[in-house]
Amino acid sequence: MNYIGSKLKLSSWIEEEVKKVVGNDLSQKVFCDMFAGTGIIGRTFKKDVKQVISNDLEHYSLVLNKNYIQNHEAIADKEKYIQELNNLPLIENGFIYQNYCIGSGSERQYFSDENGKKIDTIRTKIKEWKQSDKINDSLYYFLLASLVESADKVANTASVYSAFLKDIKKSASKALVLEAAPFIEDDSLHLVFNKDSNELIKEISGDILYLDPPYNQRQYSAYYHLLNTITQYDEFTPKGKTGLRKYNRSDYSKKQKVCNSFEDLIKNAKFEYIFLSYNNEGLMSEYEVKNIMQKYGKYSLVQKEYQRFKVDKTQNRNHKANKTFESLHILVKDNF
Ligand SMILES: C[S@@+](CC[C@H](N)C(=O)[O-])C[C@H]1O[C@@H](n2cnc3c(N)ncnc32)[C@H](O)[C@@H]1O
Repeated sequence: MNYIGSKLKLSSWIEEEVKKVVGNDLSQKVFCDMFAGTGIIGRTFKKDVKQVISNDLEHYSLVLNKNYIQNHEAIADKEKYIQELNNLPLIENGFIYQNYCIGSGSERQYFSDENGKKIDTIRTKIKEWKQSDKINDSLYYFLLASLVESADKVANTASVYSAFLKDIKKSASKALVLEAAPFIEDDSLHLVFNKDSNELIKEISGDILYLDPPYNQRQYSAYYHLLNTITQYDEFTPKGKTGLRKYNRSDYSKKQKVCNSFEDLIKNAKFEYIFLSYNNEGLMSEYEVKNIMQKYGKYSLVQKEYQRFKVDKTQNRNHKANKTFESLHILVKDNF
């Protein structure tokens, strides 16, 4: 998934830096990915550690991580379910088609009419199977995560759901095909939460805490509202031109709140090693981050320069932006 702040391209670098500090053998360690998003960092460490704890405020992220992180045992016949869902006759008047496709008269065009109907068809069947206990939790989250990933591929947006495009772009005109979202199989039990980080931190403990909070004012909940609507599939009255639902507002995206929230998180963390990914253009300055972290133990910083891509809305494609630094702030905590 093309996700704002995704660490897909930085995951090997982060893994290397964590191992430099904690050691190469992480097999007895509990690793927490506190702002998990797409789950890529949890997935990177899932193969190395004893347990991954994954968390994010957003429901679509819960769904992705229930599949990618918590699912760990083979699911029998999973391809058969995917095939069945792909071949259902389309339902006409589902929530997505009614509210987010142009053919229904909604005046919104987040998906082509056919793809909107297909999302409704698949989502309705998954709900039916879950309610009648035909599928268990593992299969439920596997199928839902597969739907989120497949629907996102054909979304008619420049990249996020804060606006749709006037004309259907090429990738959005392709027919949605439900594709399996594969997860790593292993013998470990992993945990996935959907809570505010500052609440969860009081309830858990472990060895390595990885933090990747939002670094600017963009609220993920508004930017990815349609994914929450697909995963929650509840009835509500979509608001305004973009069909927004009620959304979460993270304190990490508020200039007046971010430093206090961050310090509270660090203070309450019962983890020896804390790693924070933060952009050099973030709401907290490097100086503020350092000042907070060094109060609680031994602090250090590593940085990596990388090329950023920006969405060009007028041309509906990505272009190269300035070089930027991704920082990994490291704290080995004194009392935890
Ligand atoms: C920079 S993104 C994380 C990206 C992720 N590491 C990845 O590679 O996909 C920040 C994430 O923090 C989540 N978030 C924002 N505020 C939060 C909070 N207070 N508690 C938990 N998660 C939060 C957002 O929903 C978003 O997914």
